Amino acid sequence: MGIYLQDDDNQINRSNNVTVQSKHVSREMRGKIFGKFNGFRGCTLWLTGLSGAGKTSIAFNLENYLIKNGIPAYCLDGDNMRSGLNKNLNFSKEDRKENIRRSAEVAKLFADSGHITICSFVSPFSDDRFLARKLHQEVGLTFFEIFINASLDVCESRDVKGLYKKARDGIINSFTGIGQDYQVPINPDLVLDTEKQTLEQSTTTLIKFLEDKKILPTLRKQN
Ligand code: ADX
Repeated sequence: MGIYLQDDDNQINRSNNVTVQSKHVSREMRGKIFGKFNGFRGCTLWLTGLSGAGKTSIAFNLENYLIKNGIPAYCLDGDNMRSGLNKNLNFSKEDRKENIRRSAEVAKLFADSGHITICSFVSPFSDDRFLARKLHQEVGLTFFEIFINASLDVCESRDVKGLYKKARDGIINSFTGIGQDYQVPINPDLVLDTEKQTLEQSTTTLIKFLEDKKILPTLRKQN
């Protein structure tokens, strides 16, 4: 058992006698002064998929596009979160859960502040992703689960970070897809197939999706 206490909901809860304080600034007020376009756009895009599927590349590409167009956006990336806030967590099921819980709570704050928050986490377990969605829904924030789909074979052949080789050689335990499961999303809001699409095509598909959902004004040149 790790360092965390769990309550009946299987949630970590050591904080007693705490009351959530309401702010004076509404999301609508924030949206009026935030970024180049009027309106509150705070939401979370949760990119899930195997290591090497292309989550980080798509996330950073989209963030770059949004910022260049005057739309507040911020990426939270698994490797980066694990270099700071979550550096005390490993890749056991229990610690992955805590990684996702903390990261989803941070995403929720960024989204509440008005940012389009782009999260790239392997997040292999459906329950953890469901919790991330629930944390947003509870406070009325839009959450999209986006499955970055590429087969294990393809991700392994890409092996950008050399981690699949290490996992096969037994140097890394519990590597997603090899020593531990990846639970494919059952009902994602969007699937980006990075075996069939280039990085640019996947990013454009995601931008169109955000336009359709009225998160973004149409910024692209129409063909
Ligand atoms: S998650 O499962 O808890 O969501 P997260 O996205 O934060 O994972 O971190 C995944 C990144 O950590 C991978 O992109 C890879 O660079 C690195 N990594 C190191 N060990 C593992 C492992 N056992 N399984 C998956 N990724 C790992």
